[in-house]
Formats: sequence, C-alpha cells, structure tokens
Amino acid sequence: MGCRSLAFLVSGAGTNLQAVMDAIDAGSLDCTIAVVLSDRHGAQALQRASSRGIPTVVVERRNETVDAYTASVVQELKKYNPDLIVMAGFMRILGKQFASEYPLKIINTHPSLLPSFGGKGFYGIRVHRAVLESGARFSGCTVHFVTEAVDSGPIIMQSTIPVEDNDTPESLAERLRPVEHSTLVESIRLVCSGKWSITGNRVLRDHSPHL
Ligand code: GAR
Repeated sequence: MGCRSLAFLVSGAGTNLQAVMDAIDAGSLDCTIAVVLSDRHGAQALQRASSRGIPTVVVERRNETVDAYTASVVQELKKYNPDLIVMAGFMRILGKQFASEYPLKIINTHPSLLPSFGGKGFYGIRVHRAVLESGARFSGCTVHFVTEAVDSGPIIMQSTIPVEDNDTPESLAERLRPVEHSTLVESIRLVCSGKWSITGNRVLRDHSPHL
C-alpha cells in the first residue's frame, strides 16, 4: 500500500472531506485522516473534522509573502507526517516549496474538466460561471496530482456531467457535487493502492497481474 494517513487542506463547506470521512467509516476506504488544515477559522469543514475527533489546524494568511505562508503550512503538515495530502476546496495558491516538498504526494480536486477552466482565478462558483459563459455542453471534475504549475499536474481521474439548458452556476455546482465526491474517493483509493503509473500527464491504472 502506498499511503494510509491523509492530511486535508480546506477552506469551505467540506463536503468533499465529508464524503471521504463517510467512505472511511463505511470501510470502503482504508485510510485515516491525520489532520485537517484550513486557511480560515470559520470553515465548516473544520467542524466536520472536529465532530469526528480529527485534529484541526488553522494557518491564516496575514501580511506575509506567499512563500512565507507556504512555509508555515508545510511546517504544520510535517508535524503529522501524512502519506498523502488532499486539497479539497483549499482556496489559496501555495508557493513552489509545497509541491517540491511532497512530490506525487499531493492531490487536488477541481470542479471542471482540466485543462479547461483551471488556473489562477478559477475556483468555486467562478468555474461554473465560466463554463456556462463558454457555451460548453459538458462539464465535470478533475482530480490531479499537484505540481508547481497551478491545476496542471498529472490527471488521476475525471468525471463528466451534461450542462442543461436551464443551468445556473449554482445548479451546475449542485449536480456536480456528488459526482465530485465519488471521483475524489475513488482517486484516493487508486493513489493509495500504489497500482498506478504516469505516462505523459496521465495517471494510468496498473492492470498488470500482481503475483
Ligand atoms: C469543490 O467543488 C472543489 O472542487 C472546489 O471547491 C469546492 C469545495 O467544496 N475547489 C476549487 O475550486 C479549487 N480550485 P467543499 O468545501 O464542499 O468540499
């Protein structure tokens, strides 16, 4: 097994975190969550973690540089020695140290079909607004490894949903949510199995027989 102990980075509601906690409780994901780190004290995700007895940490960004902020986040994470870091709605871009400290040990869930509608400025409801404005007939979510370039690392899994004629950014987000949850859980399961490899910018499931 490649990993067991997860750390989560969150900023908001934490429905993705909840889906992973539920999968763990149901016995369908063989991991533990060592810590949930947020950049905001008010994040509902923190309450979800605390109510399950999971340690929480808040690292607020004040006036420091992105690099100094990144160093503080890394310093906190190191205390918990996670096997895999899951960015699930963390609304800050971290500096280069983050990806270089944890190569192929950080994954991120993003609410679009990357490489479309990704990068700086594309987060949360803004992504869905941009999808609708573009006229795209499909949207979806992407779970990918985090590298130095924002939203560009090797793609682990994607799921699609159709865009309906009467969709609003909110309705699109709402319909995507459960799909994103199962895609994230399945991606963590795959990454933790260690049965994958990277070709180009794709993570391929290892289908070779294991003797
Ligand atoms: C998720 O849809 C996630 O893809 C998105 O924020 C939401 C968090 O929801 N992340 C980004 O937009 C990052 N670029 P949650 O707090 O309920 O899990």
